[in-house]
Amino acid sequence: MADRIHIEKGSVQETLIIPLYGRKLCAEVFPKLYTDESAARICAQLDYDFTELDRQAKSTFWRFGALEAAMRQLDMQWEIRDYLATHPKAAVVNMGCGLDQTGRACDNGTCRIYNVDMPDIIAAREQLCPAGERERNIASDLNDAVWMEEVDGSQGAIFFAAGVFHYLTKAQAQVLARELAARYPGSRLVFDTVGKLGKRLMRSTFKSFGMENYDECLCVEDPAELQTWVSGTRVSTRGYMLGYYDMDDPAVTGFHRFLARLCDNVVKMRIVRFDF
Ligand SMILES: C[S@@+](CC[C@H](N)C(=O)[O-])C[C@H]1O[C@@H](n2cnc3c(N)ncnc32)[C@H](O)[C@@H]1O
Repeated sequence: MADRIHIEKGSVQETLIIPLYGRKLCAEVFPKLYTDESAARICAQLDYDFTELDRQAKSTFWRFGALEAAMRQLDMQWEIRDYLATHPKAAVVNMGCGLDQTGRACDNGTCRIYNVDMPDIIAAREQLCPAGERERNIASDLNDAVWMEEVDGSQGAIFFAAGVFHYLTKAQAQVLARELAARYPGSRLVFDTVGKLGKRLMRSTFKSFGMENYDECLCVEDPAELQTWVSGTRVSTRGYMLGYYDMDDPAVTGFHRFLARLCDNVVKMRIVRFDF
């Protein structure tokens, strides 16, 4: 087994722990809805104190948090498989990948998988799950477009970012979308957003990760504003919790469904899709 990998507390990189743990928990509690072959194994290989997360794992709210992490990944998988159906050799690009294996979960045997994140995360990734055949890990800040030079989009490309665009400023997110549109015509970009209330609810999380630029960070109250980001492109949105799947699992309660509707309609959690 690889050496245990240290994840620094209080860093943006630590943000990967919650969705990773959420996927592990969701696969345990809602197995009909969600399976994950890697999350539990990777958690066991991290030098990170999971005591507090384990303690809270039985609460309704944490179970709902796990559902959130899993639904987002299922939404991304839906979009990737949909794109691959017409572009089977496309580049599948996980932006701000953390230790997530969505690219592999959607591997059709012919696509190329790219995982992009900060250098320390990519170093951990290389140790825990080294890049396989047709897969490349790229250590880069997403805001530095040089990483795109490593992505071969000649057969199409789908770029996805799960839980990442919250940490970009609106200006950075727009520049990134425009750069992808210019370099990869015919590609697709998928990411999740929250509205103003959602951003307020995330405030303490931002602070605990040492992020000082909270005010400038992206939130999307009205999806119509996305139309202005990249001219001549198609933009669509769906509900994050219930926009793709009905959360079909016997362990999903009526209260979970109530919270899911609240997330989609009040917190305005959405999956955004650009077709360039
Ligand atoms: C909430 S985690 C999500 C990780 C992964 N997408 C998942 O679903 O498990 C956010 C990830 O985005 C990465 N990230 C945030 N800002 C970034 C940037 N500017 N460039 C590259 N990676 C970034 C962090 O290092 C972290 O791994």
